Amino acid sequence: MNKPAILVARAIFPEVLAQLQQVFDVDYNQGDEVFTPAELNHRLHGKVGALTAGSDRIDAALLQANPQLRIVANMAVGYNNFDVTAMTAAGVLATNTPDVLTETTADFGFALLMATARRMTESEHFLRAGQWTKWSYDMFAGAEVHGSTLGILGMGRIGQGIARRGAHGFGMNVVYHNRSRLSPELEADCKARYVSKQELLQTADHVVLVVPYSAESHHTVGAAELAQMKPTATLVNIARGGIVDDAALAQALKDKRIAAAGLDVFEGEPAVHPELLKVPNVVLTPHIASATVKTRMAMAQLAADNLMAYLLRGQALTPLNTPSGPAA
Ligand code: GLV
Repeated sequence: MNKPAILVARAIFPEVLAQLQQVFDVDYNQGDEVFTPAELNHRLHGKVGALTAGSDRIDAALLQANPQLRIVANMAVGYNNFDVTAMTAAGVLATNTPDVLTETTADFGFALLMATARRMTESEHFLRAGQWTKWSYDMFAGAEVHGSTLGILGMGRIGQGIARRGAHGFGMNVVYHNRSRLSPELEADCKARYVSKQELLQTADHVVLVVPYSAESHHTVGAAELAQMKPTATLVNIARGGIVDDAALAQALKDKRIAAAGLDVFEGEPAVHPELLKVPNVVLTPHIASATVKTRMAMAQLAADNLMAYLLRGQALTPLNTPSGPAA
């Protein structure tokens, strides 16, 4: 009997690819070329499943051109590259990789907060450039982390992980804002107090963004929000590019409207707003918040397990929708 045909759209751990090859006829991309929408469409022809990353957009036009498709498994917790409504209507299951990356991503969010507040990359560049000729009392004096106020916008699993690190590890006063308020038990566990977005922006010493990207959350932080923050505050974005208006942020950093920022995600990445590259008070990392070997392996495995569980046994592990259209 023919094996079901799938596409693994980006390079993946060879051992996970080998597992998929045992049960599927796999078209793969170990050269890790980023497909254009037309190339992705072409490579999906005849495939019933696909393993994708955030760079692969699954939309109505692509689904219409590939009516045989039954599941797309994203190797990411975020899935703003999916038009889930169109997938549901087309009978295509969408899956993501929640939970396996929560603590690792929270670690990174906290690391970025620390690096930003304590000016780690800025001071390293200074040292590497041979500019360190003498010590001085205020050299790279940054913002206090322990005991300060941590504001978390977006209090899902990762936001809660950052809150716990701040409250329990660093004695921070944690405030948060979210679409829905946490249960009293979770608020107590995170030692976090629910406040309005405005109060959070006005009172936090460190603002961390962990909101999922959607049309509604586009530019959650722009010039107006930056203007409400303390001039001594820092801003960290580990959510998605587009949550922050990067042009407005670059201007605010240039004007010292806020003290510093730490960014792991960018509008239009892998391109980075050229003005952000010019300002010293920003820590820039290339979308690596979940990047430990163990966690990336767990994400790849979960995406592969979703494909195998759904296509071979009819039940995915972490479904995002209930397909209602023709292919279900
Ligand atoms: C990474 O950004 C993810 O959504 O997993």
